[in-house]
Amino acid sequence: MRFDILSVLPELLESPFNHSILKRAQQKGLLEVHVHGLREYATGKHRQVDDYAFGGGAGMVMKVEPIAAGIEDLQKQRSYDEVIYTSPDGVRLDQALCNQLSLRQNILLLCGHYKGVDERIREKYVTLEVSIGDYVLSGGELAAAVLVDAVGRLIPGVLNDETSALFDSFQDDLLAPPVYTRPAEWRGLKVPDILLSGNDKWIDAWRLEQSLERTRIRRPDLYEKYLKGHV
Ligand code: ADE
Repeated sequence: MRFDILSVLPELLESPFNHSILKRAQQKGLLEVHVHGLREYATGKHRQVDDYAFGGGAGMVMKVEPIAAGIEDLQKQRSYDEVIYTSPDGVRLDQALCNQLSLRQNILLLCGHYKGVDERIREKYVTLEVSIGDYVLSGGELAAAVLVDAVGRLIPGVLNDETSALFDSFQDDLLAPPVYTRPAEWRGLKVPDILLSGNDKWIDAWRLEQSLERTRIRRPDLYEKYLKGHV
């Protein structure tokens, strides 16, 4: 799977993909992430990428031409399954959307900045707008990094233990159960006996029960969804 990211601040995206799981995914050839500076596609002495908003008001708007040039240059080299614009106006990113996106081959991500992009870019090129939550970031780069991370780890073969993503929080509309490692007792706090029992059936049953209880208390919305799917 390949991500191309168009951004006015490519430096912001230098590090997030070069560690741990995503680094390994790239080394294994399962994932490619290419970051492209939008200014490279801007013309004129100042390579201007933003301008004042028609109609007035505070804040700058990202210009049409550099973005169009960037997208069209990349589209000449391959076809994209999705052109995603990261914006607080988009559909909320959740695990179901990450699962769907992990099945795509090529995704082009456009990071918003300032007051956002000229609306004509959204009309002409963008196939999906994605928000990572109901708050406003200073730019779309961190949202793009979140999306690449959450989707990239779902590509088959990326996680060492192929089954481990199946037990993530949200994968079954449930939060994950508590986990423990050594020591079995720390400052008087003991790991639940059942986890030391060696009985896989009991452990699975305990984990499911804990997941259900945690979800019921912390995320009643998810719990309802789970119950509806398991009648
Ligand atoms: N850009 C600014 N805020 C954002 C958000 N919450 N999600 C995605 N992109 C954004």
